[in-house]
Amino acid sequence: MIKLDYTNVSVQAIGDNGLDLNQCFNEYAPKIQEIITNLNMNKDKPGSWLQWMNLGYNEETVWYVKEFAAIVDGRFDNVLVLGIGGSALGAQALSEALLKPYWNLLDKEKRDNFPRIFFLDNIDPDQITALLDILDLKKTLVNVITKSGSTAETMSQFMIIKDRLYELLGDDYRKNIVATTDKQSGILRQLANEEGYKTFVVPDDVGGRFSVFSAVGLVPLALVGLDIDEIIRGIKIMDLTLKNTDIYKNIAAQNALIHYLMDKQKGKYISVMMPYSSRLKYISDWYVQLWAESLGKEFDKAGNKVNNGPTPIKALGATDQHSQIQLYNEGKNDKVITFIRVDEFDNELNIPNIFEYTGLNYLGGKSINRLINAEADSTAVALCDYNRPNLTIHLPKISEYYLAQLLYMFEIETAIIGELYNIDAFNQPGVEQAKNYTYALMGRMGYEESAKELNEKINKNKEIMGV
Ligand code: PA5
Repeated sequence: MIKLDYTNVSVQAIGDNGLDLNQCFNEYAPKIQEIITNLNMNKDKPGSWLQWMNLGYNEETVWYVKEFAAIVDGRFDNVLVLGIGGSALGAQALSEALLKPYWNLLDKEKRDNFPRIFFLDNIDPDQITALLDILDLKKTLVNVITKSGSTAETMSQFMIIKDRLYELLGDDYRKNIVATTDKQSGILRQLANEEGYKTFVVPDDVGGRFSVFSAVGLVPLALVGLDIDEIIRGIKIMDLTLKNTDIYKNIAAQNALIHYLMDKQKGKYISVMMPYSSRLKYISDWYVQLWAESLGKEFDKAGNKVNNGPTPIKALGATDQHSQIQLYNEGKNDKVITFIRVDEFDNELNIPNIFEYTGLNYLGGKSINRLINAEADSTAVALCDYNRPNLTIHLPKISEYYLAQLLYMFEIETAIIGELYNIDAFNQPGVEQAKNYTYALMGRMGYEESAKELNEKINKNKEIMGV
């Protein structure tokens, strides 16, 4: 199992900036017990947006995903995922972590005949043009993913690509498309029905950022040969562990409470996620979205204006030791830094003993594995010297099983801290607002009032600024 080491957030490690953990755990034990009990009790209640807690038990979806991957096996050189936010980040984070690094540059044999994988999660015309220049669309399976079925970024990409596919393949173009969307509502569902695309469902009551273990994440991951049974095994074991209502035995509850109290009692409201592994770089992106969209809320559940928001930041070890760590050691003491440390890398790489210089010969004969973990450990200790709270998550290996545990732990942690803050962690009114304004600016029917309102606001601001 993955492990959480919270020594360095304690008063013993960092003095007054730390927490008396025993006292905190004891004081909050009943509250945590209530939260975990309620989450598990309410997970099947329609409208509670907790269906993601059941994704480890969705054998039918896993079966269909594997069946589809087997059917298309060998037919495509590329998988192209179109999606944004929660519809892309999970699969992107896991494929980056789990596939061999530089996967798309490897030849087919080294990829065990599985396709390359590309994610288009932006609408940058230069990026899209460049990608279409290098992809042979005839040999590309396009997985368009949008729960709402109407997100402008995703659907505009899809319209461009569908058009090109049709030009190339005529009516057969649909064989190169698989759509993942709501089971009945939304434009993509309507299109898929009319045009006959293969589809998968984003289950009800699963929000985008909690959807990585639904077909949203599993389809692309299975298509590139990742072991989704191992992913399911990882979620299940973590789910069982995190059902434990005893805070002393529940790492998601511990992590949630520590971050909550660091924010509320110690003014440390910034959460830095810093894995020491390049393969885990996108795990931080996924975490940032999960944390930001779930916890950044204007109102609490009682309707009080709270402007809640522990701010998530992504960092990468050891790279950002030479960028951000100066700030984390000596700047404002307002952060909790989480390191993810990989205990055993896939490769052991030795540094040859080739130079006599005293400034270099200490490296020779040691492994680079030892160096990266020594840097993780020493950064943690240095932060303690400056009385800066930090946590370390130990990942035994980078594998489907352990990464599923990690991501599921973060999801449960997010749900628990949302309850501690007493906010709704599962809506995203701030995202919807910007989406609606985009529709208005682009002239979507039904958004005429918003367009008028928006233009008035823009003109008023211009007038004030005298432009
Ligand atoms: O987490 C979320 O709910 C969002 O980030 C959505 O995933 C994102 O806005 C994309 O929405 P959709 O899947 O409807 O295209």
